[in-house]
Amino acid sequence: MAVGIFDSGLGGLTVLDAAAKRLPDVPFVYFGDNAHAPYGVRDADDVYTLTTAAVERMWEAGCDLVILACNTASAAALRRMQESWIPTDKRVLGVFVPLIEALTERSWGDNSPPREVAVKHVALFATPATVASRAFQRELAFRAIGVDVEAQACGGVVDAIEEGDLILAEALVQSHVDALKRKMPNPEAAILGCTHYPLMHDAFQAALGQDVAVYSQANLVADSLADYLGRHPGMMGTGEESRFLTTGDPAKVSSRATQFLRRKITFEKA
Ligand code: DGL
Repeated sequence: MAVGIFDSGLGGLTVLDAAAKRLPDVPFVYFGDNAHAPYGVRDADDVYTLTTAAVERMWEAGCDLVILACNTASAAALRRMQESWIPTDKRVLGVFVPLIEALTERSWGDNSPPREVAVKHVALFATPATVASRAFQRELAFRAIGVDVEAQACGGVVDAIEEGDLILAEALVQSHVDALKRKMPNPEAAILGCTHYPLMHDAFQAALGQDVAVYSQANLVADSLADYLGRHPGMMGTGEESRFLTTGDPAKVSSRATQFLRRKITFEKA
């Protein structure tokens, strides 16, 4: 039994870490497409082609269920994959819905009509491709009314994190928060809509101010996965061991992953 966790690069490790803590007995196969990161500047066809190739590799590794721990792939490719590509005995799930359910105070699978919620002014920080897709606003509109969302495309942040240049990443976070605040001076909540961004959580919180509630996906997705597996135990797949696969340079990716998770992580070539 193994569950796949996919990202364009290192960001999905934030989700993997939370999921592994929440479900210590489940083996996870992590796939980082580091050779092709960042996805956030690619077009939707490109993201679809890369994401489907990665998911196929995870099926070969014994996963029947794959979490796209990548907002860009969830926004640009998941709907198309679900419509025509995923075999009936496999599942691929994205990362938007648990976050939006938390923001709109809904429990899993609550499909009641959209209603007013406590937060009215929400800042969304995400990659250029996720912002362009408007997928977040679409999913939110199914569940909430009267929420004003201002989106800020955070060019450069994923590249800086992938390169391990956290000083540059911090400076970029500050300038993206400044740009957002020029459009929406007083957000009540901020969504980190890219799984790389929790690695910069403190920089976002400091730039936004302590009174802004910052939502990120790792724990929300881990809880939602635990709930899903409780209801669908047959989706655990045949894989027996946890593995870390990358299309990039395994030594370089292992060293960055070890730095970010503060435990030894060893990647192998995908
Ligand atoms: N972690 C991915 C996301 O959540 C990063 C996308 C990218 O590679 O630009 O969107």
